[in-house]
Amino acid sequence: MSYRSYPKLELHLHLEGGAPPAFIRGLAKEKGIDIHKIFDEQGGYAYRDFDHFLRVYEAACTTLQGPEDFRRLVLAVLEESAANGVIYLETFLSPDFCGGGDLEAWRDYLGAMTDAAAQAERDFGITLKGIITCIRHNGPEQAKTVARCAVETKGDFITGFGMAGAELMGRPGDFAYSFDMAREAGLRITCHAGEWGGPDMVADTIRDLRPERIGHGINAAKDLALVDQIAEQGIVLEVCPGSNVFLNAVESWEKHPIRLLRDRGVKVTVSTDDPPFFHTTMTREYDMMAENYGWDEADFAELNKTALEAAFCDAATRERIAKKLEAAQ
Ligand code: ADE
Ligand code: ZN
Repeated sequence: MSYRSYPKLELHLHLEGGAPPAFIRGLAKEKGIDIHKIFDEQGGYAYRDFDHFLRVYEAACTTLQGPEDFRRLVLAVLEESAANGVIYLETFLSPDFCGGGDLEAWRDYLGAMTDAAAQAERDFGITLKGIITCIRHNGPEQAKTVARCAVETKGDFITGFGMAGAELMGRPGDFAYSFDMAREAGLRITCHAGEWGGPDMVADTIRDLRPERIGHGINAAKDLALVDQIAEQGIVLEVCPGSNVFLNAVESWEKHPIRLLRDRGVKVTVSTDDPPFFHTTMTREYDMMAENYGWDEADFAELNKTALEAAFCDAATRERIAKKLEAAQ
């Protein structure tokens, strides 16, 4: 049995990381950019480890050169997500790849993406919200520029602020100014932590950046007192098991800590992160949880409920998605 048609909510997907390799190859060809080295013989993305993944990711992004490319990207990603049963999606958007942090350029990119999201909602029945994301290895000063873009364009579509990139560069507190600025403007906060960093990185992220949600957070499982703190504070983890296994952040599905975290009372959700890079989809994530953990519709209904409660959306959207879930689940 496959969970393809089962309705799903997904809270953690990097828009550029959702670009199918054929889509990026098409753009490269149109523009005469030679990026053949980032593909393997089967046409998939090729990289050795996480640092190399980030470089290949950024090389792929060099083909995304204007609002029109991002409009097409949003449509391609949402069509694929909807085909995997996703009815509500939150995606990380990085002004660093959309004009380099220039506010007026960012507004143009965002306009194109917002139009595409509205079209996809009509055509594929999927709702999208955007979380503006600074890139850690681009440093705290660039993060401030990105936070300003977030504050200036927050609204019905842009609802959150976060940080991705090379987790082991710098400490969370280096980015506190940007997160404070975003939070004070009313943006909801999430941050990658504990994918590569240890429990100390998760603890510092919680203390210094005060996120409602954490991207990954899996290494918190190495410190049970921290796990209990996360559970007590009600911080939601955006867990991406297929990504973690593919990137060797954990050894296997069997050894993945998502069950430990959930059993100890942590609110967990499940996402794909960068699906074509990790040869996954939301269908595959669900099928693998069913196969490896024996999880079934009751477990998946709980994941959906947690994700709906933790979604960075307005009350009307939450209600609409709840009704859709009720009808489809
Ligand atoms: N950017 C895209 N995917 C990422 C990941 N898994 N971790 C950190 N930054 C990312
Ligand atoms: Zn991520």
